[in-house]
This record gives sequence, C-alpha cells and structure tokens, in this order.
Amino acid sequence: MAHADCRRTGTWRYTVLGIILGLLLPLVATLLELALVQRYVSIGNIIWAQSHPSMLWFMDFLPVLLGVLGHAVGRQQAEAAFLNYELEKRVTQVSEANSALASEMAERAELEEQLRHSQKLEAVGRLAGGVAHDFNNLLTAIIGYADLLLDELKQRDPRREYADEIRRAGDRAASLVQQLLGFSRKQMIAPRIVDLNSVLADSRRLLERVISEDIRVDVIESDCAVYALIDPVQVDQVLVNLVVNARDAMPDGGTVTLRTERVSLAPADCDFHPEARPGDYCMLEVSDTGLGMDEPTKEKIFEPFFTTKDKSKGTGLGLATTYGIVKQNDGFIDVLSHLGDGAAFRIYLPLQNAAAQKADPETPCAAEGGRECILLVEDETVVRSLASKALRDRGYEVLEAEHADAAERIWTERKADVDLLVTDVIMPGPDGKQLSDTLREERPEMRVLFMSGYDDEILSRHDVYEGGPDFIPKPFTVDGLAGKIRQVLDA
Ligand SMILES: Nc1ncnc2c1ncn2[C@@H]1O[C@H](COP(=O)(O)OP(=O)(O)OP(=O)(O)O)[C@@H](O)[C@H]1O
Ligand SMILES: [Mg+2]
Repeated sequence: MAHADCRRTGTWRYTVLGIILGLLLPLVATLLELALVQRYVSIGNIIWAQSHPSMLWFMDFLPVLLGVLGHAVGRQQAEAAFLNYELEKRVTQVSEANSALASEMAERAELEEQLRHSQKLEAVGRLAGGVAHDFNNLLTAIIGYADLLLDELKQRDPRREYADEIRRAGDRAASLVQQLLGFSRKQMIAPRIVDLNSVLADSRRLLERVISEDIRVDVIESDCAVYALIDPVQVDQVLVNLVVNARDAMPDGGTVTLRTERVSLAPADCDFHPEARPGDYCMLEVSDTGLGMDEPTKEKIFEPFFTTKDKSKGTGLGLATTYGIVKQNDGFIDVLSHLGDGAAFRIYLPLQNAAAQKADPETPCAAEGGRECILLVEDETVVRSLASKALRDRGYEVLEAEHADAAERIWTERKADVDLLVTDVIMPGPDGKQLSDTLREERPEMRVLFMSGYDDEILSRHDVYEGGPDFIPKPFTVDGLAGKIRQVLDA
C-alpha cells in the first residue's frame, strides 16, 4: 500500500515537473528573445511571433505537452522502481525460505539419526527379549546350584573358589541380560527416590573390585543430599560401565573421580546440551585422567556395538546401556573429552524432593524356612529341581509338577494339604494364572507365588504383573526365593 502511494507520487512528480518546464520554457525563450532583440533584432523577429505565428500556438501547448511527457517518464521510472522493489522482496523471500529449508533439513537429519539409534536399540532389545526367558531359566539354575555348592562346601575347601567363580560369572551374565533388556525398556526396574551420595558410598566397594591397583578412586560428594528418582541397581550399572571405561582408558594407571553436585540450570545455561531443560538436577560425574577421545569417536560412543577395544575386551554396549538408563529416568548425559586429556561423563537427573521419599521396600529375609506344603509347578527341569531342593532343605514339603495338568492331578489328591502354589507363568498348556484360578475356585484362601523370566509386557497378557507382591522375577537366588515364599505365606 505504502509502495503504491509512493509509485503514484513518483509519477505525478514528473508530470508537475513537465508542466513547470512547459511554462518556463516560453518565458526563457521570451527573455532570450528580448536579449537577442537588442543585438539582432531581425533574428528575434524571424524566430518568434511575427514571422512564425504557429510558434505561438505551440508555446501555449508546450506545458501540456511536457506535462504529458513528464507523466509518461515518471510512470516508467516509478514502474521500474516498483519492479526493483518487488524483485528485492522476492529475493529476500527466497533466501529466507532457503535458510528455513536448510534448518528443516538439518533437523530432519538429526531426527532420522535419533530414529536409527532407537531402532537399533529396539532391535537389540527385541533380540534380548526373545532369549531372556531361556537365559533367565538357565541362570537361575547356574546361580542357584552354585549357591547350594557354596552352602555345602566347608569354609576351607579349595573347591569353594570354583563355586565362587561360577556364582560370579552367573551374576555377570544375569546383569548382561538385564542390560540387553534395558534397550527396549523391558528391564524390570523399581525406581525410587535415592540419595546419589549414599548410592555412591554403597557402590564404592563394588567399583574398587573392577579397577586395578594402580588406579586411585576419589569421591567428591556434594555438601547436601542429591535425591534422584531411579532404581539404585541402575545407578550401579551406570557407575560400573563408566568406571570400567575409565579403567580401560588408563592402561598406565591414573585417577577416577566420582563427583556429585546439585545443579540449577537457568534457560541461559541450557545451550551446552540439546536435551538440557531449565530446572534443578542431580549431577553425577565420572572423570578420568586417561587417553581421552577425538571428535569422531565422541560422536559414536553411544551407539550400540561401537567399540574401539579388542573383541575380547569390549562389546560396545556399556555406554549405549548407560544412555538408555539415563534417558529412561528423564535425564541426559554430557561428555567432555579431548584426545590425550582424559574424559568426563556428566549425568544429569531431575532433582527430587526428599519428602516424597518412600520407605525402602522390605528386603526379604534371607534363608528362613518353614514346614508348609508347597505345590511347585515349573516346566524347566533344572529350575524345578533346584527350587524343590532348596525348599526341602529349608524344611518345606514340596510337591513337584512339570505343567498345569500334572499339578491338577496332584491337587485332586492333596488339595487339603497345599498351603502355597508356586508356579511359572508361561508354560505349555494352561498358564500359571489359569491354573491358580482353577485351584482357587476350590480353595480361595490358598496363597500363590508366580515366577517368570518374561518382561512385563508379555506377563500382562497373562494377567500377571511383575510389580505385584505375588511375583518373583527370574533369575532368582535360592535365598531370594525362600525369602519371598516366607513373605507370601506370612502376609
Ligand atoms: N573414559 C573414556 N575414555 C576414553 N574413551 C572412552 C571412555 N569411555 C568410553 N570410551 C570410548 O567409547 C567406546 C564405547 O564405550 P562402551 O562402554 O560403549 O563400549 P566398550 O567399553 O568398548 O565395551 P563394553 O563396555 O561393552 O565392554 C569405547 O570403546 C572407547 O573408545
Ligand atoms: Mg565400556
């Protein structure tokens, strides 16, 4: 609109100029004539009025003529200026659209990268979910029998060391399965409000076991408690992954520093990390004085299976797991490192209010036994034999069945004696839940304990929930099973 006005005034300006020129020209000519008359009278007469009267007529129309001419020129000028303006406007629009497109493309590329990353994790998780059930059964047997061996071997027996090794390897394998399940968020976790300082203090011994003697561990705790909402087992997992990496980055020894701090991020402080949002955080830092990383390595470290280590030394899952855990708990990780200059991993988790802290869930009391009668239903022979042996050793009477039908046959004869049904959830034929429903029709007061190595998603399809008081996840230890059974019987 403004530009159209401008265009109009521009045109009329030239018109007015033409008219003024048209009026001025005869005047100038007359003055010229007067001046000429004084010197060359005859010439003046020849040019103007007397000798050429048509000239007078022309003079009268000159302002109109020049006005029209000026209008045309003005119009053309204004048109050109307008076109120029339009052109500039379009050029600006195009360059704006171009930069918007560029940033959209960058955003898209980043999203695609994130999608690829989470698809990879999902694939690993699916794979793990598929084998976890079998693994958990086998691990229950491995860990359980190692425990039984340890119980039976005398303190001084040299074979205790072997049994110990089996037990430890079983534990490590179990935590590996948990890590793999963590990728698809299928790990059975129990987040609660914990003070990272006390988790750190508890984990110290565990961490000292994984590092060598030439590495010093410094712990710098924040002045005040730092409460985060997370399963403490996951904090351990994260700490072990980071500390083992720090150890591997310091082949000639050095220092690992574990530090906690309370951090408040204002909007202006959030530029350092794309996932940082303003708010209060617990910060847990694991830093080392090791080899550090170059930029290309740093970009890939969270990818599953990315490793710069020997095949026998690294699987490339440590940091991918750590990333998954931190994300699962609404946090983010920042990495600071330069080649040859050590590395620091900073984990930010939303700070929690201590007042919201719930009492610790009751830990099952270790190896207590009883005299009750237990109907034990489990299709996996190693697990069934292990559990029945462990329970008999603790004084229980155990009736064993390998599937629901066998259990019902036993039930027909012994229903009056059975105090507790301990059953696997997913078995060939009727599942554990259906079995318990059938038996409870006759004796609604009978207690039930479900056990399974499947994740929550699959369990919920069978109407069983891993968080429930009547559930124990596999792999379990014999002490864990005995403790849980006592809890269910005494509830
Ligand atoms: N503190 C560190 N200093 C230097 N490089 C590191 C550090 N932490 C991790 N890295 C690099 O990141 C890579 C990936 O680490 P990640 O923990 O995911 O796998 P890994 O340690 O190689 O194998 P895994 O942990 O599964 O045994 C490492 O191979 C190493 O190159
Ligand atoms: Mg690692």
